[in-house]
Amino acid sequence: MEGMLKPGSLQGKTVIITGGGTGLGKSMGKYMLELGANLVITSRKKEVLDKTAAELEQATGGKVLALGCDVRKYEEIENVIKETEKRFGQIHGVLNNAAGNFISPTERLSHRAFDIIVDIVLKGTYYMTLAAGKNWIQQKQSGNFLNIVTTYAWTGSGYVVPSACSKAGVLALTRSLAVEWAKYKIRSNAIAPGPFPTEGAWSRLLPGDLVKKFDPAARIPLKRVGEHQELANLAAYLMSDYSAYINGEVITIDGGEWLRNGGEFSHLETIPEEMWDQLEKTKGKGA
Ligand code: HXC
Ligand code: NAP
Repeated sequence: MEGMLKPGSLQGKTVIITGGGTGLGKSMGKYMLELGANLVITSRKKEVLDKTAAELEQATGGKVLALGCDVRKYEEIENVIKETEKRFGQIHGVLNNAAGNFISPTERLSHRAFDIIVDIVLKGTYYMTLAAGKNWIQQKQSGNFLNIVTTYAWTGSGYVVPSACSKAGVLALTRSLAVEWAKYKIRSNAIAPGPFPTEGAWSRLLPGDLVKKFDPAARIPLKRVGEHQELANLAAYLMSDYSAYINGEVITIDGGEWLRNGGEFSHLETIPEEMWDQLEKTKGKGA
C-alpha cells in the first residue's frame, strides 16, 4: 500500500492531530510528515507522545511537536495553539481524532460512563474547534478542520450509544461550520472509517474472546478491514489544497460495510449458486 499524493503536497503546512500518539492518528500523522507537513501531536499521555514523536522524526526526517493536552480542558487546548504558533508559526489544519469508546448495554452504564465519552468525543472536538477557529478568525487566516467520525454517526448503534451520540454531534458540527465559517475561508470535513485495526479500538470494542467470535471483515462486502495507509491517503488529501473545493462533506471509507448492513436483502449473499439455479427454474412459484 503506497502513499498517493505527490511529494511535498503538504510542504510548509502545520497540522495539529489530537490523539496523534497512537493508532490511526499516528498513521495519518506519519504520512502528513512524509508529505512535508510540520506535525503537532497531542493527547493525555505525554510519554506515549514523546516516544511517537521520536519514532516519526527518525522515520520521516520531519518535525514533530508533542504536547500533553486533555481535550476536555479548554485551557490546555489554548496552550496547544500558543505552543504550536511559537514553534511553527501559522497553523493550517486541525485533525480532530481523539476519542474514547467501549461496548456496553446502555442500561448498564452509569451517567459518569456516558459523560466520559461525550466529554472526550463531542466536547473535546468542539473545544478544539472553537479555540482553533477563533484563533484563525481573529488573525484573518484560512483553516481546515478534518473530523474523524464513524458510520454510526448517522445510523446510530446499540452498545456504543455514548459514542454514537457524540459522533452524530461531531458530524452536525462539521456540516454546520462548513457553511457558517466558509466566509472566513475555514473548511470543515469529516471521514467515517469502518473497521481499521488499532490496539485502542480492538481492545475496547472486541475485548476478550469477542475477537474470535466476531470477525469484522465478515460484515464487509470487500471481506477485509481497512489498511492504515488507505485512511492516511484520504486524510492527507482532505488536509491538502487539492481538496480546496470540498467543504461540509463526510467521506465513508468502510469497504461498503454500512450500506450492506442496511440493505434489506444483503443476507442473500449466503445463498449458493445451486440454490439460485433451483429458484430460477421455479420463477418464484415454489418447488
Ligand atoms: C462500562 C465503563 C467502561 C466499560 C469505563 N467505564 N469503562 N462502563 N463499560 N467498558 C465507566 C467507569 O466505570 C466510570 O464510571 C467511567 O466510565 C469513567 O471510567 P474511567 O476508567 O475512570 O475513565 P478513564 O480512565 O478516563 O478512561 C476513559 C475511557 C478509556 C474512555 C473509559 O477507555 C480510554 O481512555 N479510552 C481512550 C482511547 C479509546 O477509547 N480508543 C478507542 C476509540 S475506538 P463510574 O460510574 O464507575 O465512575 C472508536 C471506534 C469507533 O471510537 C468505531 C469502530 C468501527
Ligand atoms: P486510539 O489509538 O485509542 O486513539 C484514540 C486517541 O485519543 C489516543 O491516542 C488517546 O490518547 C486519545 N485520547 C483519548 N482521550 C483523550 C482526551 N481526553 N484528551 C486527549 N486525547 C485523548 O484508537 P483509534 O482506533 O486510532 O481511533 C482514532 C479515531 O478513529 C477515533 O476518533 C475513533 O473513534 C475513530 N475510529 C476508529 C475506527 C477503528 O476501527 N479503529 C473506526 C471508526 C472510527 P491518550 O490515551 O494518551 O489520551
